[in-house]
Amino acid sequence: MPEPQDNACTLIDHVVGAVGCGALMVDAAGTIRCANQRLAGMAQVAVARLVGKPLSALVTPMTPAGRKTGSMLERTAPAQTEGTLARGSAPPLPVLIAHGPLPPELGAPTGHLLLLIDIAKQKEADERQHALLAEVSRFSDTVIEQALELKRYAQRLEERVRERTRELHEANIDAIFMLAVASEAKDADTGAHVLRIQRGSAGIARMLGLSEREAEEIGYSAILHDVGKMVVPDQILRKPGPLTPEERVIVEEHTLAGERILSTKPFFASARRIARSHHENWDGSGYPDRLVGEEIALEARIVHVADVFDALTNARVYKPAWPMEEALSFLREHRGRMFDPAVVRAFEAFLEASADMPVGE
Ligand SMILES: [Fe+2]
Repeated sequence: MPEPQDNACTLIDHVVGAVGCGALMVDAAGTIRCANQRLAGMAQVAVARLVGKPLSALVTPMTPAGRKTGSMLERTAPAQTEGTLARGSAPPLPVLIAHGPLPPELGAPTGHLLLLIDIAKQKEADERQHALLAEVSRFSDTVIEQALELKRYAQRLEERVRERTRELHEANIDAIFMLAVASEAKDADTGAHVLRIQRGSAGIARMLGLSEREAEEIGYSAILHDVGKMVVPDQILRKPGPLTPEERVIVEEHTLAGERILSTKPFFASARRIARSHHENWDGSGYPDRLVGEEIALEARIVHVADVFDALTNARVYKPAWPMEEALSFLREHRGRMFDPAVVRAFEAFLEASADMPVGE
């Protein structure tokens, strides 16, 4: 009569062996009672060498309770866990272990059945994937760090460009002042006149609602409005009495001369319009082009008002300085004729807003 244990082993060999899994059975003491050929192949040992060995010498599970073979055998219901299968001197084989108590229907003594599946290839694939992910992660970190460094570098460059642009702009303004003062020197005036024109013109532009950048541009462009006077002979510029018609023609030439002197670079575009048109009158009676109303560039209309007011409120070789109120009355009387009425209103508003320092001080 075969032992019930032998019946169970025969069943494992025939049934479990057919599905290609390693399989073994242990008794209640955890001793291997039988194993199939597949398991012996996985463990690289003969079946006969396995029988009688403690399960803990062959299989190490990774259960939530830890690497304890005993905890696996304490289970009363089927379970599954990963673990390793010893292979003599070779590295342990990663395996998936399905295990559970033997069904009483087999008629075998109390024991456990274990099915083991070789998962070495999956583990290798997992490790390669983890290594790849780690590499990608390191690479990503490097790329992000380099991108941040590039961004910081770009910001530093932008700041340097802004700084250089600011310096160039200031250098341009300085050159404008030097040129203006040089041309004003012929007119027996000082650089104070051009500074007042700059301040008044920028102030009017702000009152007209132009942007701060536009107002600043009109201000520095206004400085050069009379640069063309360099071509007018001194004896005419400094003549105390009235000018002859011929002399007047020569003086009026300073508008076109100014435009010719100034650079055609965009930085001087506004200054060129001002130089040419700052003696045009709103009603078309001015020079050199006899433009009418809004045909005259706005910045030229602005400088026209600021220039005349400054000329009136400051002494010249041919006249004393006018009181500010009289000069303002002159502007009001001539709005719509010499001056753009809106510009005169903006100038009055500018004077009111800067009570501490009039343009014609
Ligand atoms: Fe002028």
